[in-house]
Amino acid sequence: MLLVTMAVFFGQCGQEAMRPGPRLAPVQPNPSSELAEAMRQLDAEMVVFRTRFLEGDGRWDEAAFTEYDLNALEPTDSSMFVEGYTAFALAFHKRIEAFNAAPGPDTYTGVVDGCASCHQRACPGPLERIAQRKLP
Ligand code: HEC
Repeated sequence: MLLVTMAVFFGQCGQEAMRPGPRLAPVQPNPSSELAEAMRQLDAEMVVFRTRFLEGDGRWDEAAFTEYDLNALEPTDSSMFVEGYTAFALAFHKRIEAFNAAPGPDTYTGVVDGCASCHQRACPGPLERIAQRKLP
């Protein structure tokens, strides 16, 4: 199971999997760029808000995403800065602000859509995971 998880992570944007050499389990299996860490934090926050809404008290009151400047964080590889990236990052930030100002199902869905639209261009690997963050 762990190996599968690692393989998924390494294959995320088709970068790491290309490295030559023996594939021993590294000490730190997934050395992270600043951008990748921000993504994981946002993803974790989505899981918390979504789960609490669906299985808990159905409330969003104190939900707020961490606000990152996605244009200022270093990615693993500069090829991830696809054309339009800056615009996607700005549009995404607006969606985060809208959610934080008025957390609820609509603004949450706006954030999920923002994740997906950048990922369709920049990094398709996590799209399946992002789809699972949608509200039913
Ligand atoms: C403006 C573009 C953009 C937006 C918006 C965006 N991402 Fe990403 N995401 C990226 C890029 C580029 C990477 C690759 C980062 C790297 O490997 O350095 C990435 C990586 C990831 C990863 C893999 C991280 C890892 O461990 O390697 C996940 C999961 C992820 N994003 C989920 C999300 C979620 C969930 C959202 C919305 C809350 C989101 N992303 C919004 C561009 C974006």
